Amino acid sequence: MLSKISIIGAGNVGASCAQRLVERGYADIVLVDIIDGLPQGKALDILESAPILNFNSHLIGTNSYQETANSDVVIITSGLGRKPGMSRDELLSTNMSIVTEVTHQVVNYSPDCIIIMVTNPVDAMTHLAIHLSHFSRNKVFGLSGVLDSARFSSFIAAELDVSVEDVSVCILGQHGGNMIVIPRLSTVNGTPITKILPQEIINRLVERTINGGAEIVGLLKTGGAFYAPSAAIAQMVDAVILDKKKILPCATYLQGEYGIKDTVISVPVKLGKNGIEQIIELELTPEEKQALASSAKAVQELVKVMKLGR
Ligand code: LAC
Repeated sequence: MLSKISIIGAGNVGASCAQRLVERGYADIVLVDIIDGLPQGKALDILESAPILNFNSHLIGTNSYQETANSDVVIITSGLGRKPGMSRDELLSTNMSIVTEVTHQVVNYSPDCIIIMVTNPVDAMTHLAIHLSHFSRNKVFGLSGVLDSARFSSFIAAELDVSVEDVSVCILGQHGGNMIVIPRLSTVNGTPITKILPQEIINRLVERTINGGAEIVGLLKTGGAFYAPSAAIAQMVDAVILDKKKILPCATYLQGEYGIKDTVISVPVKLGKNGIEQIIELELTPEEKQALASSAKAVQELVKVMKLGR
């Protein structure tokens, strides 16, 4: 039997996720949105590509959560996106009410699922979903570091004119202005970029990565990025559905790891069929630890605004 994946939100991110995932053939997909006709139309269009692309997995679009029942994985993308000039944090109150309603529905129909949060501000929204679902932390995590790392890796590969396959980078912390990029742990075929790129170029690439989402919002004007985000989500879903035990940076609820408690930030984790199967604690310098603590503090401030209580 194929796995079942539900995607909540049929905007650009949700719909491209549906496309990427159904084409993999390992799961049936349910695409949900409140707008009548939108998920149905996009799902039908994608499904009509099956004879050309040769996939047999199924995809439906619906306005009802009933169809999501007993999903293995649920991806939450619903919510407002940014307009040019806005930060992700400014979406907090609107998206909090949307994610609250969505999480209740998801948990009601799929009490054993793994939730992948995409809605921004993603660290706070992941925290909210853990709080509301009462799921263990290994089953609720967010899109963050995989996307940020892909952006940084692309910029490094372009700068050095090398294959992206040879680049491996390290980014931790908040998905936003307080993300922590660690160049000394970012390598090209094993060599740290600090040994092959001048500091001012590294600084420029780091800055561009931190503003990577905003750069796309600024260009598109009417919405945010979705090609790279959906590719990043699909890589996370692959790790879970195929039980790959792959180490990927995800927005993860920390309970003392890295000296940080009760806070969601991005750290490397091992992803497999049980979701987060291990949290990897990298050896950081005192400065890096300090920066990570400040990044966590920024997320804690947002979570405080949500007044979740216990
Ligand atoms: C971005 C959104 C997904 O970084 O936060 O493009």
